[in-house]
Amino acid sequence: MTSEDKQLIDVARQARQHAYAPYSHYRVGAAVRTRNGRIFSGVNIENAAYPTSICAERVALFKAISEGEREFDAIAVVTENGGSPCGSCRQVLAEFGLHIRVLIADTQGQQIRETTVAELLPEAFTSTFLQ
Ligand code: THU
Repeated sequence: MTSEDKQLIDVARQARQHAYAPYSHYRVGAAVRTRNGRIFSGVNIENAAYPTSICAERVALFKAISEGEREFDAIAVVTENGGSPCGSCRQVLAEFGLHIRVLIADTQGQQIRETTVAELLPEAFTSTFLQ
């Protein structure tokens, strides 16, 4: 694993401590890296009205987007058991590139799997269908 990937996983791991998951108790940390090396973290944020909860991956990505970033090369996701991004997060990631690498790691910072958005979301519906 490169030191950049290790760092990304570490940021996700640290962020996970701030997860707000009083209902599921399933804490998720994420960190997305832009093409120019900026890193944005995110955590899952649950709500008493369950469907209004949001996943860590989307928080990280939305923070970056709202700061003007549009190009990403990797996202790290840290959970206690190597959980994989949900369908909604896959779709949101696909909007910004099927090439984005997805690093799935555990709370020890051990990488469990490396994949891409393309692999996680085959035959994705993207903007190409709208042109
Ligand atoms: N969760 C994430 O943050 N990311 C995922 O990709 C899967 C699920 C969160 C949502 C909810 O707060 C908790 O994990 C259990 O579903």
